[in-house]
Parts: sequence; structure tokens; C-alpha cells
Amino acid sequence: MTKADVQDKLKEVFSHFHGEQQELIPLLQETQARFRYLPAAAMREIARFLHMPEATVYGVSTFYAQFKLTPLGKRIVRVCRGTACHVRGSSKVLAEMEKQLGVKAGETTEDREYTLETVACIGACALAPTMTIDSETYGKMTTKKVAEVLGDSSKAG
Ligand code: FES
Repeated sequence: MTKADVQDKLKEVFSHFHGEQQELIPLLQETQARFRYLPAAAMREIARFLHMPEATVYGVSTFYAQFKLTPLGKRIVRVCRGTACHVRGSSKVLAEMEKQLGVKAGETTEDREYTLETVACIGACALAPTMTIDSETYGKMTTKKVAEVLGDSSKAG
């Protein structure tokens, strides 16, 4: 993405804000929604727009887990690590997912196809252990089903 692309997209994001310091978090959220992560160049522009030090913008972005400083994959895989899923073996599902994707939780595959994350509970405890790929939920997961759901998701896209 060129500097001009970043600036064009940001111009549009900034048009919804007044440039006040208390807008930092919503501004970061909207920027992330646009880019799917927070590019360093965007954070510099945000600091300028809000008249605050770049270190403050960077500090807030790294403090909250919702903000991603590296590009996300095309698909987001989330393995539930809540209690119900944990007692039914979610750590084995996660380990198998890490093995098949070749990344650890929190990382993105080199081809940017998948980002692997963990979540506390997705509200489908009856189906534990659960996981999601984008908006699709997969229940009663086993290590054997991991390859199957990854195959499904690649056909979907
Ligand atoms: S603990 Fe996993 S869905 Fe609730």
C-alpha cells in the first residue's frame, strides 16, 4: 500500500472526527476497520491529526488487545480457551491448529491467509470445544476435525 493510499483512506476516516484527543480510541477503531490493522504510517498521521505525541498513540494501540499492529490474514481462526472448552480438550485443538497452520496463537501465516487467535468464550459452550473461522462456528472439535474445517474454509473463500 502506497503512502498516498494510506492518506486517501485516512482522509475519509478523519472526516468523521473533529481532531480532539478524546477521539483517539474510536479513531483507532475506525482506522483498523478500514485497513484491517494499524499501519505505522496511519498512527503517525493520527498523532498529527490529534496533536498528540506519536508515542501516546503507539502506547494506546499496544495496550489494547483489540488493536493489531501487523496485517491480519484473510481469515481469522479463533480457538476458544474458555473453561467449558478447556475441560473438553481445546488445548489439543489449538496445538493441532498451530501445527497445521505453522504459526502460534496470535500470529498470521506467511501467505496472509490465516490469523490464529484464542478467545475466552464464544457463547456456544454446549458445543465445546468450539472454534470459529470468520463468522462460521465449529463445535465439538477434535484434532481430527481441524484439517476438515480448514479445508471447508478454503473452499468457502
Ligand atoms: S467456553 Fe468455549 S464456547 Fe464457552
